[in-house]
Amino acid sequence: MKVGQEVESPRDSAREERDEVAELRAALAREERISSALREVGNALGTTLDLDDLLELILGRLTDLLEADRCTLYLLDQAKGELVSRIVIGEQVRSIRVRVGHGIAGTVAKTGKAIRLRDAYTDPRFEPEWDLFTGYRTRSMLAAPLKNHMGRTIGVIQVLNKTVGEEFTAEDEAILSALSTQAAVAIDNSRLFLSLIQKNHQLLSTKEKLERRVADLQLLNDLERAMARAESLDDVTRAALSALARACQAQGATLLLAEEDTGDLVQFVYDADRPEALDRFGVKAGEGLSAHAMSTGETIELADAQVDARYHARIEGRFSFPVHSCLVMPLSNEQVFGALGLYSKRGGRPFEEEDRSLMGLVGANLSTAVRLYRASVQRERGQRMTTIGRLLSQVIHDFKTPMTVISGHVQMMTSADDPAVRAEHAAGVLKQLEMLTAMQREVLDFARGERRIFVRRVYLNRFFDDMKKQIEQYAEGHPITVQFDIDTKVTARFDEFRIARAVQNLGRNAIEAMGEKGGKLHVYARMDGDDLLIGVSDTGPGIPEEIQGRVFQSFVTAGKQGGTGLGLAIVKKIVQEHKGSIVVRSSTEGATFELRLPQGVQIQSVLPERGVLADEPSI
Ligand SMILES: Nc1ncnc2c1ncn2[C@@H]1O[C@H](COP(=O)(O)OP(=O)(O)OP(=O)(O)O)[C@@H](O)[C@H]1O
Ligand SMILES: [Mg+2]
Repeated sequence: MKVGQEVESPRDSAREERDEVAELRAALAREERISSALREVGNALGTTLDLDDLLELILGRLTDLLEADRCTLYLLDQAKGELVSRIVIGEQVRSIRVRVGHGIAGTVAKTGKAIRLRDAYTDPRFEPEWDLFTGYRTRSMLAAPLKNHMGRTIGVIQVLNKTVGEEFTAEDEAILSALSTQAAVAIDNSRLFLSLIQKNHQLLSTKEKLERRVADLQLLNDLERAMARAESLDDVTRAALSALARACQAQGATLLLAEEDTGDLVQFVYDADRPEALDRFGVKAGEGLSAHAMSTGETIELADAQVDARYHARIEGRFSFPVHSCLVMPLSNEQVFGALGLYSKRGGRPFEEEDRSLMGLVGANLSTAVRLYRASVQRERGQRMTTIGRLLSQVIHDFKTPMTVISGHVQMMTSADDPAVRAEHAAGVLKQLEMLTAMQREVLDFARGERRIFVRRVYLNRFFDDMKKQIEQYAEGHPITVQFDIDTKVTARFDEFRIARAVQNLGRNAIEAMGEKGGKLHVYARMDGDDLLIGVSDTGPGIPEEIQGRVFQSFVTAGKQGGTGLGLAIVKKIVQEHKGSIVVRSSTEGATFELRLPQGVQIQSVLPERGVLADEPSI
């Protein structure tokens, strides 16, 4: 109570006191409302960093506290020199842009000072466009700057149309200024936080992108390595399908291929549960998802493949797991030649963009691999045909000995009455027929892509007994002595038919070299360390000078009629197949050929020719 100069009546002073109390109460209530609003905002600041949530809360509290109809918050876009409203409280949420320096809010942003108007339309700075546009009628107005802790204006808060009373009061301005400080703090914090989040997001997505690139490269690297190791189309397919299924977390993958010559479709099925068993079967055109994708040239993507009309139980139902999602993509070089498929992404999810891009990568690699593979099959087929021709000529060359021996036996048989002698000649014929059959088998095996040598334990005495008989038969009519020195206690491991051919060739050459003049043919066999030595020696004129050093080459022949020059080339090849070696010593006194067959080495009984595989489809 003021100490006044005049004495007041007790009634007056009582009324004044009542008024004063009421005023104080009202002020207290207002302070409480403000402080509760500040507390609320403060709490929210501590618990949420979502800018929109915070601003909505602040503006909501402000609208209540200031008894306003609307409340708008503008944030300053420094770069563009514009205020942008983030939130409009009222019926609608819209975005408004105001140029700094224009209109009421723009002026507040420029000057940093609050503006309070009883009737906006009386102020020349007011721009009524927004009212015209929305049909809203602005009357009273209060706009205050939002200043951050550095005192820099970062936006403007504007309240419109006081609902209780005609205009906003100085007190309202004070409340607005208190809350706008809070709002500025919230915005600053939140911006800081957002920029951190954004940075984090950027970093994360860069990291993810990098990881994906690394994964892609890893996949391609794995694929390339697997394909380089692959010896067959099955290997290539398994490598590609398993890598793709792993990278895309699919339970299964398929490759459909159209055969080059016939267009027949073959589907390969890779099941992650049985990775070793690559299933392969024929498919009719338009049968199943892959054949569909292939015929339309379009990618098929399904969340539940089994309910799709194109799903075919015989084809897609082959997996050990139930098929749900699928992604099937046609494959093309110049034209569509197949389709890749992925089935049942793990976790019951559908396939995604990333899977499609990985599939595209693998598909491109597979296309190249298939093209190269087909080209190499073509090349190998051509090579095989050439080799078959060569082999045939060799075999036909070696038919000569058994044919001569057979005809000898048959002549003897016709003149022999004794059944025992006849039986002996019959056995001789049979032996030569066996030889011919073995040679025939050699050609046919090779035509199928196999090259076998049958290494077995052989009794030398039995083997060379047969050899001796054949060579003697061949030498008949020549003044030639045939001598065999064989270590008969010895057994050795070699391919009987092939070494017989080699010895026959050497024997025949020796006999031909000695010719009419005759001489001595000496055949010997013994162990030399771990090697079996077989020698064929004669007392002929020795190797003609003009071909010395070249005798083992094909078509090198000298001094004989009808010689093909294949005999010694065949001998050398047979020795090489046994991992052995052959040498020749020659002088005017005669020639000696010596074979060395190592017994300690392991010789595979099946030697696949490089790149030629048995039963490979003509894809
Ligand atoms: N024991 C040998 N003494 C002297 N020359 C030999 C002897 N063996 C081979 N030759 C020479 O080596 C050449 C090549 O022998 P090879 O067996 O490869 O073919 P070819 O005997 O001429 O023909 P084919 O075997 O078809 O009858 C012979 O033509 C011959 O001149
Ligand atoms: Mg010969």
